[in-house]
Amino acid sequence: MTRRERTLSLIKPDAIAAGHTGKILDHITSAGFQIIGLRMVFLSRTQAEAFYYMHRERPFFPSLIEFMTSGPVIAFVLEKENAIQAYRDLMGATDPAKAAPGTLRALFGQNVEKNAVHGSDSPENARREIAFFFSEAELIPVQSTFPQPV
Ligand code: CMP
Repeated sequence: MTRRERTLSLIKPDAIAAGHTGKILDHITSAGFQIIGLRMVFLSRTQAEAFYYMHRERPFFPSLIEFMTSGPVIAFVLEKENAIQAYRDLMGATDPAKAAPGTLRALFGQNVEKNAVHGSDSPENARREIAFFFSEAELIPVQSTFPQPV
């Protein structure tokens, strides 16, 4: 059984600097995801540490924080049936070298850290990560932006 779900994605500083933003968004919308909120943010160190707090004990954490504060990120909320798993499938494995051909990380990632995109990994984290960047009022289901039939 499928149900409509929301997930949080980031385009990371490496992919923005490489000029991949448009291509990544095109892949996502072509795969049937609706973008219902989007903003560009230059994360502070405190914000990056809070966003990735679950990785704080990992050896790569200091380097990850350095990377995620090296330039802006683009944060956006996606809506689709089973969006969390569907978007993880579209992104591919964390390490671009192990990601399936055609996935976002295989196409646009550089290495296991500079891997182009982030996506929430569970409903709990999706709720937390969406609220990190957006208030509920900032999320606009696409249908409501078009004129409604009278
Ligand atoms: P993301 O899906 O955003 O979640 C945590 C991030 O940490 C991950 O993508 C990578 O950017 C980074 N990361 C995960 N594993 C490693 C690793 N082994 N070495 C360096 N960075 C990593």
